[in-house]
Amino acid sequence: MAVDTVGEVDFDRALDVPPLAESHLEGGVRTFDLTMQAGETDLGQGSMTPTWGINGTHLAPTLRAERGEDVQVRVSNGLDEASTLHWHGMHLPAQMDGGPHQMIAPGQTWTPHWRIDQPAASLWYHPHLHGQTARHVYQGLAGMFIIDDQDEAGLDLPRDYGVDDLPLIVQDKKFHDDATLDSSTSFMQSAGITGETVLVNGTPGPYFDVTTHTVRLRILNGSNTRPYNFAFEDDRAFALIGTDGGLLDAPVDLHEVQLSAGERAEIVVAFEPGEQVRLQSGPSDTGDRLAGGADHLDILQFRAGDHLGGVQQVPRELVEVPRIDESTAARTRDFDLSGVSINGQEMDMARIDEVITLGDTEIWNVTNLDGQTHNFHIHDVQFQILDIDGREPPPHLRGWKDTVWLPGGQHIRLIMTFTDYPSTQWPYMYHCHTLRHEDQGMMGQFLIVEPGQSTQPNDYHLQPDRGHGERDH
Ligand code: C2O
Ligand code: CU
Ligand code: CU
Repeated sequence: MAVDTVGEVDFDRALDVPPLAESHLEGGVRTFDLTMQAGETDLGQGSMTPTWGINGTHLAPTLRAERGEDVQVRVSNGLDEASTLHWHGMHLPAQMDGGPHQMIAPGQTWTPHWRIDQPAASLWYHPHLHGQTARHVYQGLAGMFIIDDQDEAGLDLPRDYGVDDLPLIVQDKKFHDDATLDSSTSFMQSAGITGETVLVNGTPGPYFDVTTHTVRLRILNGSNTRPYNFAFEDDRAFALIGTDGGLLDAPVDLHEVQLSAGERAEIVVAFEPGEQVRLQSGPSDTGDRLAGGADHLDILQFRAGDHLGGVQQVPRELVEVPRIDESTAARTRDFDLSGVSINGQEMDMARIDEVITLGDTEIWNVTNLDGQTHNFHIHDVQFQILDIDGREPPPHLRGWKDTVWLPGGQHIRLIMTFTDYPSTQWPYMYHCHTLRHEDQGMMGQFLIVEPGQSTQPNDYHLQPDRGHGERDH
């Protein structure tokens, strides 16, 4: 019973574009103020839907900062329960990462600070508390974090935010008749909620008025579960210019791009004057029907004006993406995904699973032992894919990634370097980004330690009561 909404969506609301978050300099530090809050939002259900948002009732403003800048974010929790805010894809100290060890109690403010030190990219942010991430994200807590740098600025790419450069936060929802969010799943759906209503930036049935020849789309799969296979209704080609961690070395022409939960793609698509064309999602390679992998969905309609200006063509070369040399790897680790465990274990906030020596390059062998789909996300680093089931990755998977899709049975080798931020106290996470799996324990913790320190996980002890989240099965 695959879902098919093609032709059923009205496209009668202008696409909402999240505002750019205001910031100011405090002693040279770019400072943002974010407040998590509860409210009600019109999600097209006839009456208002209770939702959560940041500086608003649903979703969150887009943060934007430049490589080299010092930033701080004052995150205030105006909800009546504790939450966290995690900077997905960001290279930063573990203590600032906003994972389950950085809980923010109601009424409290948490102020992480760090230096932006990575290439231009489309990152995002969302809660990441122990056992409750799916619910907090589903209620509406998610936003984009765009990083700029000189290399990107030097390219002739569309970059007028909200005009020819659009964030697209794609999330599927299910509603009860009274317009409240439905988070129920059938007993078969172990991966969690899939809905038939696809919101883009929180807009149901969205259209966008195109005023330029080319438009850059920063697509985020911000859904709890559902993988998408994005394509245009006429199957037109578009240029993939970037993946999770930044731009590619050259654009790759594609007709479709698949994203599992948490992944991003930057694409540039060209329009003809006066045309209308829909962005859709078709069946994905997972074949995982219960996770929505067989569905056809209408997502967003583009309406081109009669006169289109802006950037005409994508540059043929983008940025340098040096390949990490396999022979430089200090060690290899195996991660077997099965059920809701990794290497046979479920998440324990007091247990360290892996200890990594600062400066090392490592190869991570990630294997999905199941028939169902999983994915794999690593905090702090951007990695490269060495091979997929023993074969070289296709061109669109050769750039920087922080989350990678593993359809059932797949084996992937990743390579990454741990360049900064040693700590014996504060761990980073790695996990499946299917949020229900993550909540149920499909996550582990790693420390980065100074050379010469023990790499035995048992030598390190965290305070078990530092996070206060409850488990939810
Ligand atoms: Cu987007 Cu550990 O998360
Ligand atoms: Cu993350
Ligand atoms: Cu999973």
